[in-house]
Amino acid sequence: MSITNNIEKFRKEKRILFTTPSHGQGNFVAPKSLKMIGHKFFTCDYSEIEGFDNLSNPVGMIKSSQDNAAQIYGAKATFYLTNGSTSGIIAAMYSVLKRGDKVAIARNCHKSIYNGLVLTGALPIWILPQYNEEWGIFETINLDYLEEVFYKNSDIKAFIMTNPTYEGCMSDIYRISAICRKYNILLIVDEAHGALWNFNKALGTPSLVQGADIVVQSLHKTAGALNPCALLHISRECNINPKTIQQALNLITTTSPSYPLLLNIENTIEYLSSAKGQFCIQDLVKNVNRLVRNIKLLPNLEVYSYNNDITKLLIKVTNLSGFELSEILFEKYKIEDELANEKAVLLLTGLGTTKSKLKKLENALNDLCLNNIKISQEKYRNDKHFVPVEPRVRYVPAAVWGKFSKDVELKYALSRVCMELIVDYPPGAPILLPGEVIKKEHIAYLNDKGRTTVKVLL
Ligand SMILES: Cc1ncc(COP(=O)(O)O)c(C=O)c1O
Repeated sequence: MSITNNIEKFRKEKRILFTTPSHGQGNFVAPKSLKMIGHKFFTCDYSEIEGFDNLSNPVGMIKSSQDNAAQIYGAKATFYLTNGSTSGIIAAMYSVLKRGDKVAIARNCHKSIYNGLVLTGALPIWILPQYNEEWGIFETINLDYLEEVFYKNSDIKAFIMTNPTYEGCMSDIYRISAICRKYNILLIVDEAHGALWNFNKALGTPSLVQGADIVVQSLHKTAGALNPCALLHISRECNINPKTIQQALNLITTTSPSYPLLLNIENTIEYLSSAKGQFCIQDLVKNVNRLVRNIKLLPNLEVYSYNNDITKLLIKVTNLSGFELSEILFEKYKIEDELANEKAVLLLTGLGTTKSKLKKLENALNDLCLNNIKISQEKYRNDKHFVPVEPRVRYVPAAVWGKFSKDVELKYALSRVCMELIVDYPPGAPILLPGEVIKKEHIAYLNDKGRTTVKVLL
């Protein structure tokens, strides 16, 4: 029986619960929350009561719901994550990496991978994807370079990469997984931004289908679920025991998972895989494509279109930095983007992106480009982007965790060991990680950003 049906059945039983959660399925809701959220959400919130299941050791309705999801996704096992892709990524790392193990990681990774490095004590071998200076973004990984790194480090246990990138760039996972297999390296893909791919071929081909071993997806990013609903899949070909993943998840996730989130995960998957859901995704694709076609005709405007997932709109306007464009969109049109860099702005769309919302964006861009709207560049004079340099790892993140640090002036920071996680914008690619050597390029960049000090190892 599904989680949804079980909860509906349970409600009819009218059992008297002396259990957590203490709101008693909405008998008490803090008054301001009641006003803002209402009480319905609380009525679905239970703990592991009789007849329910346990997310940390599922044997009943959660197990059958997860098994059903695994079939839909073509996975050996699928895990529901109520702590986001963040928890899936860390658990995947914990399942396969031990202290001192080498792990290759594409540098445009999410910060959860840094957390995974601290917890596992693994040694990162950083892979720099190609960098597109024109757009200020990482793109795909050069496969010859990847193979060379694997060849030189025969003891790499796993390779972790992001596909698609935050900005939608897609990699050839078929070829990457073949290279990983050749060197007996496990492929973990952070597909947080590709949760619609399994249900619409025009958007992208799921990494699981292309041969990845473990894939993590955020259902809340594009697929319309609540924050932070996510999934972890193990491929049918991967020999990792699902129990190992479960144990790792249990190490880092709450023992009180949210039933409203579990329900939402189940219902979202059911909807996405239904004819109605697929029509809804197709409609989004059609509407975004129409917008892109129209705005591409505007003078001075460019839309990033190179093998990317079109639900992510990366846009730039001549003579405006991404930061300026972002400010104009927000101040003049109340349009808030996901992020901006020196070159462009990123606008994310998903199942909740209505036609009228896209029309508002189109109208704003029309107005902005046709009326040549500008703002003062003065404010953004220091907003330079960082052109990535090869990281030099002096200590693995776990080795410097909790060690003493001090602030030093930038001019004295050259060759010192950084003790901060420096990221341009959360969750952008890291510029410096704790344990890495500070290079002159880092100092120049931090200086441009107006910083005067940096934390270094004492
Ligand atoms: C590429 C990438 N991976 C993983 C995550 C973490 O996802 P979640 O918010 O579901 O924990 C994010 C979040 O922004 C992300 O951008």
